[in-house]
Amino acid sequence: MANVAVIGAQWGDEGKGKIVDWLSARADVVVRFQGGHNAGHTLVIDGVTYKLSLLPSGVVRPGKLAIIGNGVVVDPWALLDEIERVKALGVNVTPASLMVAENAPLILPLHRELDHYRETSSTATALGTTRRGIGPAYEDKVGRRAIRVVDLKDVKTLGPKIDRLLVHHNALRRGMGVAEVDGAQLMRELAEIAPKIVPFAGPVWRRLEQARSEGRRVLFEGAQGALLDIDHGTYPYVTSSNTVAGQAAAGSGCGPNDIGFVLGIAKAYTTRVGEGPFPTELKNEIGERIGRTGAEFGTVTGRKRRCGWFDAVLVRQTVTTGGISGIALTKLDVLDGFEEVNVCVGYSLDGKQLDYLPVDANEQARIEPIYETFEGWGASTRGARSWADLPATAIKYIRRIEELIGAQVTLLSTSPEREDTILVRDPFLG
Ligand code: GDP
Ligand code: IMO
Ligand code: MG
Repeated sequence: MANVAVIGAQWGDEGKGKIVDWLSARADVVVRFQGGHNAGHTLVIDGVTYKLSLLPSGVVRPGKLAIIGNGVVVDPWALLDEIERVKALGVNVTPASLMVAENAPLILPLHRELDHYRETSSTATALGTTRRGIGPAYEDKVGRRAIRVVDLKDVKTLGPKIDRLLVHHNALRRGMGVAEVDGAQLMRELAEIAPKIVPFAGPVWRRLEQARSEGRRVLFEGAQGALLDIDHGTYPYVTSSNTVAGQAAAGSGCGPNDIGFVLGIAKAYTTRVGEGPFPTELKNEIGERIGRTGAEFGTVTGRKRRCGWFDAVLVRQTVTTGGISGIALTKLDVLDGFEEVNVCVGYSLDGKQLDYLPVDANEQARIEPIYETFEGWGASTRGARSWADLPATAIKYIRRIEELIGAQVTLLSTSPEREDTILVRDPFLG
């Protein structure tokens, strides 16, 4: 029996939330291990839509333990807001159903302000972040000056930690001509929120050790996607954490051997939100049509997502960097009715053919996608619940994608609804 890690195989928004929700029926524990409330994971269950950002997608199923691991950056105010939002939909989150790692760093208002300032300043290059303070919070974690969840347990000891943090931030803010942060005010804000967060705080690594010894199944829920990974993504147009499966272990406090199967989620086409290279982007009516049919608007920021054809070169690359054992292919239904469908099978650069994305941004700007064209399928795949319901040309498209990316389709999703999912191979069985 294997634990499963779910990660995005493209630039995020591949449908991880839907797949994690579906798979969580077979799991006991669902763990987020990186990112923060920049994530927007959508679940549709019997017509009711849940949008989760920080809470693991397992929270909606009664009896499952949800865990926010140490690799996540936690905005305590956003966490409480989200708990209230899901409560209004009938989901009760309590310290018995949610544990937050004591050693997770906090996102503070000063991080959100810095993110916002950098994105709007005329002197800095905008990356198109979600402006949630994710990058600045990770900078402070690595800079060893973060305030962590555990620090809320005894607010009396927060003073020197806040001072150390503000030496850095107030110097930055003076340089930017922004008002300095008042340490006493920050202390009051943290003291007020602390009693509401502390009941959820705990040693996640020990809880996972216990789950292992009891033979429980753990589902690790990635956020963003492998092309947004801080090391392997399209730097600097990336998020500030590792999004590949290797992070599931480090970001929760277990070892790589605890992750049996890595399920990469990929859309049957490609989208990206924010700035950065996108070789197969369609800035034309076809791209608009994919966006309309696929409802490609950001879950978190409402921004229009950029759309393009499936890029098999990139997904083949993320199958390797992400450590992906199998793929869940989503949103195939969005391509229903196209006369022809293209897949990128290589790039040409200065007359040479490439089978990977070069890291050099200048080269990335010059590459041209090489396409293979497929006959489309007139019949609808939307809501299909068995392989036999799929048109032959759609199956041909899937089979060719498997060949090109070097990974098999383990699950197929045919609509936003939980049950419109075809299981090809159970990832928990390895
Ligand atoms: P995540 O960030 O990877 O969890 O993905 P998002 O929730 O941000 O975006 C995926 C969107 O596609 C959501 O609105 C889902 O409800 C929707 N979705 C997921 N799977 C399918 C599918 O197979 N078909 C269609 N049409 N929509 C889907
Ligand atoms: P889910 O989990 C898609 C993108 C932002 C921006 C870049 C950096 O829903 O798939 P950040 O705020 O993280 O510093 O922004 O990363 N981004 C996402 N794009 N889906 C996400 O999450 C994303 N989270 C961040 O748009 O380009
Ligand atoms: Mg999303």
